[in-house]
Amino acid sequence: MISNTSHAQTLRASAGEPEKAESASSTSPSEIALTNVSKTFALGKGQTLDAVSNVDLNIAGGEFIALIGASGCGKSTLLRMIAGLEDPSQGSITIAGQSPEDCIKRHKLGIAMQEHGLMPWLSAWNNVAMPFRLAGLPIDKKRVDELLALVELADFAQAMPKQLSGGMKQRVSIARALVLKPDVLILDEPFGALDAVTRRLMNNELQRIWSQQPTTTILVTHSVEEAVFLADRICLMSPRPGRLELIEEVELNRPRGLDTMHEPEFRQILAKLTTALDDVCTQGSRQ
Ligand SMILES: Nc1ncnc2c1ncn2[C@@H]1O[C@H](COP(=O)(O)OP(=O)(O)OP(=O)(O)O)[C@@H](O)[C@H]1O
Ligand SMILES: [Mg+2]
Repeated sequence: MISNTSHAQTLRASAGEPEKAESASSTSPSEIALTNVSKTFALGKGQTLDAVSNVDLNIAGGEFIALIGASGCGKSTLLRMIAGLEDPSQGSITIAGQSPEDCIKRHKLGIAMQEHGLMPWLSAWNNVAMPFRLAGLPIDKKRVDELLALVELADFAQAMPKQLSGGMKQRVSIARALVLKPDVLILDEPFGALDAVTRRLMNNELQRIWSQQPTTTILVTHSVEEAVFLADRICLMSPRPGRLELIEEVELNRPRGLDTMHEPEFRQILAKLTTALDDVCTQGSRQ
């Protein structure tokens, strides 16, 4: 079930979607390989906590992966390791054959983590522009404006983070993650604070961006529906220490729209994964 073939590109071709737009950073999306990845945290006084255990996963370039699992099962820890923010205790992670740190140095990685991580002293506009500054690149003002418009915050460009709602801050963080047109996009519950309607709009936008720009995407979400709507494959993690319990391919045609959610195939995968998530969480709580 785990494959190296470019499933995402096949899906796009079969859906008759437009050729991908030019990427500022690169022309091809990056493969990600996780080999036997584990993470144990030292808690002090000789105590340790096993957060992630023996994860093997190959993600094809341009593929969209959703990661689901109970709270505390290690999803963010796994993302942080892929993003080079945390070292694995065991195993290895490569992005296009390089280390995650190399990927960050080459500005190929866009990250929106669970906490929005906006700079409180910078306006929404300047937060979105920050990756240009960090990369030592001239700010593409048009691109920053475009991204703010995309997340429907053009009118709040000059607002400071404290003047924005939780969902608005999340949207700034998504715009910031996308501004350099990354090859790899890492999203940790990016839509958690959005209302249902905005969330569906953002899901659609994310699908559109992903289909037009070569981006290998890993999304952590607590919404199984969102995972089925967006992903090529869904990885279900067991309760801590998180292992890959199940990997499910989503072979629904693209582009997917609101109608897709009413299709029997969609409902079927949703039911299967919801049951699997319930089972795995119930087993965990019995241990
Ligand atoms: N820096 C750290 N030091 C010690 N323990 C940590 C650290 N970071 C995470 N943990 C522990 O690792 C486990 C997994 O945490 P993680 O944040 O990856 O879970 P999660 O699946 O993202 O949960 P949620 O869905 O609630 O965001 C938890 O038990 C957490 O307490
Ligand atoms: Mg988390």
